[in-house]
Amino acid sequence: MLKRRDFLRATLATLGAAALPGCGDEGGQSTSTTPPTTTPPRTVENGEAFFPQWTASGDPRPTSVILWTRVVDPDKPGADLDLELEVALDDKFEQLLTVNGEERLTLKAEAAYDNCVKVRIRGEASTTYYYRFVYAKDGKFFASPKGRTKTAPAEDADVAVRFAFVSCQDFIGRYYNSLFALTSVELDFFVHLGDYVYETTGDPSFQTPDSTRKLTFGDQAGAITLKTAKGETYQAARTLDNYRDLYRTYRSDPALQMLHGRAPMIAIWDDHEFSDDSWGAHGTYTDGREDELDVERRKAANQAWFEYMPVDYPDDPDFRYDPAKSFPGDIRIHRDFTFGKHVHLVMTDLRTHRPDHQIPEDAFPGAVAFDQAALAALPGGVPASATPYVEVETYANGLYKGVLTQAAPIVGYDPQKVTGKINAIYINTIVASINASPMAPNPPIPTIDLADPSLERGISFFDLNKLSPYSGIGARNFVHKDAFDVYSKIRFEADPKTQDVMGEAQEKWFLDTMTGSTSTWKIWGNEFCLVPIQIDLRMVPGIPALLQRRFYMGLDAWDGFREKRDELLGKLAPLGNVVAITGDIHAFFAGTPWVSGDPTKKIVEFVTSAVSSGTFRELLVSQVASDPILSTVPAAPQLAMNIDALLSDAASAVNPHLAHAESTKHGLCVVDVGPTELVVTMHAIASEEVKIDYTSNTGTLSDKFSSIRFKAVAGESELYKELDGAWKRWDPETFAWV
Ligand SMILES: [Fe+2]
Repeated sequence: MLKRRDFLRATLATLGAAALPGCGDEGGQSTSTTPPTTTPPRTVENGEAFFPQWTASGDPRPTSVILWTRVVDPDKPGADLDLELEVALDDKFEQLLTVNGEERLTLKAEAAYDNCVKVRIRGEASTTYYYRFVYAKDGKFFASPKGRTKTAPAEDADVAVRFAFVSCQDFIGRYYNSLFALTSVELDFFVHLGDYVYETTGDPSFQTPDSTRKLTFGDQAGAITLKTAKGETYQAARTLDNYRDLYRTYRSDPALQMLHGRAPMIAIWDDHEFSDDSWGAHGTYTDGREDELDVERRKAANQAWFEYMPVDYPDDPDFRYDPAKSFPGDIRIHRDFTFGKHVHLVMTDLRTHRPDHQIPEDAFPGAVAFDQAALAALPGGVPASATPYVEVETYANGLYKGVLTQAAPIVGYDPQKVTGKINAIYINTIVASINASPMAPNPPIPTIDLADPSLERGISFFDLNKLSPYSGIGARNFVHKDAFDVYSKIRFEADPKTQDVMGEAQEKWFLDTMTGSTSTWKIWGNEFCLVPIQIDLRMVPGIPALLQRRFYMGLDAWDGFREKRDELLGKLAPLGNVVAITGDIHAFFAGTPWVSGDPTKKIVEFVTSAVSSGTFRELLVSQVASDPILSTVPAAPQLAMNIDALLSDAASAVNPHLAHAESTKHGLCVVDVGPTELVVTMHAIASEEVKIDYTSNTGTLSDKFSSIRFKAVAGESELYKELDGAWKRWDPETFAWV
């Protein structure tokens, strides 16, 4: 048990004038009053073996940046280790700066924090610094790989800014070749929008370990063992050591190390830093079969992230992770940055404070969520998406109560849930499968006449596309749009907290920060898609009637918080020059999310694909194959393969706000921001390329990237694409670049 004082505390250090004589450029402003002492140069050897996770820097501000490393000495397991930090103005470390008035800053890498070390150095704005850590052993000095970092420009500096944004870097069976697109790009910093690590060792639905890209937890007993429907087992992190194992492994990747060595990072979370499709301290592995609240697990994830990531706590002079604090007060992920007068980067945390997904995964599909009386009270009355239901205890003298109760163990739902108002179509589906089974009664059980005008109509979970009693499909994924729009609105009006994605305090901070910003561009670092991602299968022939509907692809993202999204977009759009940068979905998208029903209130959004994690299309194909119902629909695999055509379908016009969809490639985005334009270059690489190890052959990678450019223009909220050297505007009315 850690004591109150045992938190990871970063050393604070102030850079001063160059320490060695004859260094030319004085570089930093010295705050030290005593002249630096000068010692003879010493021989420093390559110490990579002592620094298996290399070095990293992050959270650059005009006067500070965080430096990070972890040191390991196999001869001293479990010991605190002494380190020295050197900071210079050149990569040969000839123009050394003083650190707290000394040539080198002595640090202690404590075993209690996995021998991770963080330093917040104070220096000059817009300055490139080189840094390395030195470990002394047996009279020799071993240097970490050197890193380069850069402080932010002063808030009033009229300078252009270039940064990259990335997300989703699954390590298992995959290589970070996408990151090599940045080898020749000079960046001020890069943004990581989350899924920096994935918490599982080999979830068969998307991870296939190979001989080198695999992970085995050291603390086997502490990890969660999970089982697929087919009986395959894999593990998920649960303990602090498990989560540390993730960072130790992921940070061993040479491409990621190269990127960290070149530029500081600004990182937020998505779900996999803790648990797939998580909310707060809840996992969702069992789709509602078990209560997956696990605060201890979430705090382990928080601490490992804080130890391993070069993140700052801006409001906390002590700069600490304190495990004695209770969740969620133990961590603050949302924070903002300025880079000169043109860039205000506002990073949000959409996982820690959010409520549960709107549709319970364990809902009984037949249960009616909103009955006729509730729907009749809506301004438009009972909507077309409502379907008939019966009072199961009394209708047909309770016939269907008996039928559904008997079918419960076979279908897999709780018989106690067969009560009250039950959807008639769902009842008929169960009856039809009983009548078609070898145990079919004779005569067969009659079905309910759905055309009976005396039946009341409501919105049941079955109407939302919840086909199985415990499932993500119909709850978090692939949900019937028309029914959900009604369901979501009623719930929001009854209790806005059902969509409180940021939590009250963060939302206030976010809106205050965006509204108060005086920067040219207000860039929202946003975890998951703002643009609605919908498909329209109403005109697709050869699929069951239940699928001939419009669907949301994922309600884990902003589509699951429609009314809150409208509220926020309504406040952001008038600010002008608001651009969201987004990850999570493993696809490249660009569009202009707007307030439902009012396309004039919009912002511009750019979505980057995954560095390495299975593409959106691959995940859909896998979901279809593993779902007990969708896998029986012959047309479903092909529909999943054609996802981009469905998303961009001009005939159905289902996504007018979505100008670009590329769901089959990996890569990243580079952003060039100036006073009049914000240009985004999407660098894409084919999906098969992330399964190949190019580490010793990176030269051949440059030919494998394709790039396209988009831009936003100051004073507008329009999206442009570069086509044959000319910039064309997206026209949502005609579905064309004009
Ligand atoms: Fe991801």
